Amino acid sequence: MYKFKTFNNISEQALSLLKSAKFQHDEAKPDAILIRSHPLTSKDFNQNLKSIARAGTGFNNVPVELATKNGIVVFNTPGANSNAVKELVICGMLLSSRGIIQGNAFAKSLSDKDEIEINNIMEKEKKSFKGNELKGKVLGIVGLGSVGSLLAHAASVLGMKIIGYDPYISVDAAWMLPKEVEKAENLEFLLGNSDYISLHVPLSNLTKNLVSKKLLNTLKKNAKLINLSRGGVVNNSDVIDALENKKLSSYVTDFPTPELIDRSVSNGDVVLLPHLGASTKEAEINCSVMAAEQTKDFLENGLITNSVNFPNVKLSRTTQFRIVIVHKDEPGVLGKITSEVANNNLNISDMINKSRDEIAITLIDLHDNPPQELLKKIDNNEHILSVRVC
Ligand code: MLT
Repeated sequence: MYKFKTFNNISEQALSLLKSAKFQHDEAKPDAILIRSHPLTSKDFNQNLKSIARAGTGFNNVPVELATKNGIVVFNTPGANSNAVKELVICGMLLSSRGIIQGNAFAKSLSDKDEIEINNIMEKEKKSFKGNELKGKVLGIVGLGSVGSLLAHAASVLGMKIIGYDPYISVDAAWMLPKEVEKAENLEFLLGNSDYISLHVPLSNLTKNLVSKKLLNTLKKNAKLINLSRGGVVNNSDVIDALENKKLSSYVTDFPTPELIDRSVSNGDVVLLPHLGASTKEAEINCSVMAAEQTKDFLENGLITNSVNFPNVKLSRTTQFRIVIVHKDEPGVLGKITSEVANNNLNISDMINKSRDEIAITLIDLHDNPPQELLKKIDNNEHILSVRVC
């Protein structure tokens, strides 16, 4: 029986899915971990650990390299919370364009007035909360994955013109885009031509401080920047300078820092929220159910979908016994595995071997239960990281 451990709140639906597969919710030496934003460390690893599923898209809270070294599959759940993030980006564009926050604070400040006074003051003052519409404006989307693509569709329905930038776009993601999206060859073009810029990139060495002084210098005047992706993608002090110089007219983010809070208190041009992009009931259920399904498929059948460190693996089950071998992608390993199986007089009914960078996984279907002796022999090789039967 497999054991799983959860960090953060994982939805009841996901827990029931695992429990109905007879998995045990147990903290001690789990085979699988399911997490949301809890930062995992090597201390959370154990000898039995086979998979980590991150219920969300970003995975910078998981030590992926260490997991790969230990043959542990890391999953994420791309797309499962994209609609929630998309909706908050639209809200962010509106918050940065209309006097919603300021108007609300102003209305609340009139609590000591009677209705006639309130109406009079409101009518007189409402001009100071005037904003602009989204229709007809240009939205630059950096990162055209699942959120970027949904956002492009929604913005297009709102009558916006869209410019997109994504040098790593997959063919599938490109198919999902509305045909009106103009392709930016570089970020300078996107920033120089957009009234709104929304960032949808993961935090990595490539994207850290992606939006900093040099790039901000190319901004179209009075642009508004929305960053609900990761805090480190934007250099906050450079953004504050750009606000100060009126290059940028508003910055909306769900990654507050002390300097951004100071700016938001002293000027109305920074809108701060907790990291709420994916915080909807629907997204939390979608992400955790997807994480649970991927975990179950891997533990029960060795199948992999949406891993950030392993290849996708699909193999329909033809027999009752399947050996799952995680190993380094080294020449000769596969030959050694299959000859050990043959030495035991066992016939391979079906098999698959897939690799990604330096890691590989092999599934072998057998008609008969492989003896422990065989598993030990396969395991007895410096390149093999784990062997199990499921
Ligand atoms: C994600 O990475 O899926 C979103 O930023 C939400 C989250 O961090 O949970």
